[in-house]
Amino acid sequence: MENDIKEVLIDEETLQSKIKEIGTQITKDYEGKDLLIVCVLKGAVMFVSDLIKQVKLPLEIDFMAVSSYGSSTKSSGVVRILKDLDKDIKGKDLLIVEDIIDSGLTLAYLIDYLKSREPNSVEICTLLDKKDGRKTDIEVKYLGFSIPDEFVIGYGLDYAEKYRNIPYISILKEEIYK
Ligand code: IMP
Ligand code: MG
Repeated sequence: MENDIKEVLIDEETLQSKIKEIGTQITKDYEGKDLLIVCVLKGAVMFVSDLIKQVKLPLEIDFMAVSSYGSSTKSSGVVRILKDLDKDIKGKDLLIVEDIIDSGLTLAYLIDYLKSREPNSVEICTLLDKKDGRKTDIEVKYLGFSIPDEFVIGYGLDYAEKYRNIPYISILKEEIYK
């Protein structure tokens, strides 16, 4: 598995200290609110599980699964809901936790979809952001790292469903997906 990696982009220590920073900020910002963390499966699973340990507030967590990619490396723009939230979100303060934003098409769809159910607020927390890939405007409240337009894997992120279990973010060798 490690042989398929071109370069380590963000190591475990750097990830954890940034996550602690974001968690502390969320703790401040959401004091007294009805916080519902919405984890976007599957890529954000590792991030969300480390992040919520750093948020020192009563909170709820729920999961959504959407598909936008297949096994290719670019967003199709067509978003399918594979798993919806379990409970009503009316009046809640939603924080959508994503692994990465590239074109932004997946999140744009998700935000519209969730806003129509009248939550009190909807904000975005993403570990990674490829700003160069953006095709639609997305306002990110909490960002881990801006990264260059390269295909990354690990720490929850996959290529064709593999590599999610690598504990750090790395760049995949181009010959694997080209
Ligand atoms: P977007 O709709 O183009 O913003 O794509 C967002 C989704 O595509 C993310 O939630 C990821 O699942 C996936 N994605 C985008 N870039 C990468 C990458 O470099 N590695 C792994 N998955 C990615
Ligand atoms: Mg994803």
